Amino acid sequence: MYTLLNGKELSKKIKREIASEVASIIDSGKRSPSLAVVLVGEDEASKIYVRNKIKATKATGIISHEYKLPESITEKELIETIRFLNNDDEVDGILVQLPLPKQISEEKIINLIAPEKDVDGFTPKNTGRFYIGLNSLKPCTPSGIMEFFKEYNIKIEGKSAVVLGRSNIVGKPIANMLLEKNATVTICHSKTQNLKKIVKNSDIVVSAIGKAEFIKEDWIKKGAVVIDVGINYNEAKQLVGDVDFKNVADKCSFITPVPKGVGPMTIAMLMKNCLTAYKMRTK
Ligand code: GUN
Repeated sequence: MYTLLNGKELSKKIKREIASEVASIIDSGKRSPSLAVVLVGEDEASKIYVRNKIKATKATGIISHEYKLPESITEKELIETIRFLNNDDEVDGILVQLPLPKQISEEKIINLIAPEKDVDGFTPKNTGRFYIGLNSLKPCTPSGIMEFFKEYNIKIEGKSAVVLGRSNIVGKPIANMLLEKNATVTICHSKTQNLKKIVKNSDIVVSAIGKAEFIKEDWIKKGAVVIDVGINYNEAKQLVGDVDFKNVADKCSFITPVPKGVGPMTIAMLMKNCLTAYKMRTK
């Protein structure tokens, strides 16, 4: 029997804790933490993500400022928006939803975000500090995954962990977080040879490759912990992860579902980063 890592429930618990902390901040007569969310253009997935992020601010008592900017915006105009938010003392967190339209350099925009307001943990300063083990704002999806290990008392130290995918948002940072907890980590990607064999030898599997139901039952070591970051649609147009859940689950000790697994945790950790940024900025 496996235990389901319930992201919906755990994210609610974390948001309740944040809401209670925010309420006591307000009770003490101080202003609420705040988050500016910048959405450029009409990307449908981005609109859904942003809507869910705004919803979470309302649930936690964090003030949100939404900036919906047209697809045609110039890089210069977006730079001005970021500068304005950097300079607004009452903005604690700045989130620029990615991807950005092609006329805008994502690198330039991310570089510009004030590191102390960088609630995505994407700026070079936070990234650099994170990878050498210094205090920093950290990317939300891997932080959310680590909350599962904590909540469900899953041992990491000494375990073999495999991360599928090497993105800056998920693959690299989760590999680093598992390494910090003394796992032996292998990072796999599209050029990896003997992928199945590596996965089969792993106690912990984190997949963030975006391939519907790619990881099959015979890839998984008995009792493995499986974390599925994938958001894909299969041929039947159902929302599924990277893992063939219905066949894989019985081999696992713990596994995340898709949906209601990693997704809601990302948003809860964004709220947590907002609160952290607020506390750092107002202390
Ligand atoms: N687009 C996809 N994932 C993310 C994320 O975590 N943060 C931002 N800002 N944009 C994204």
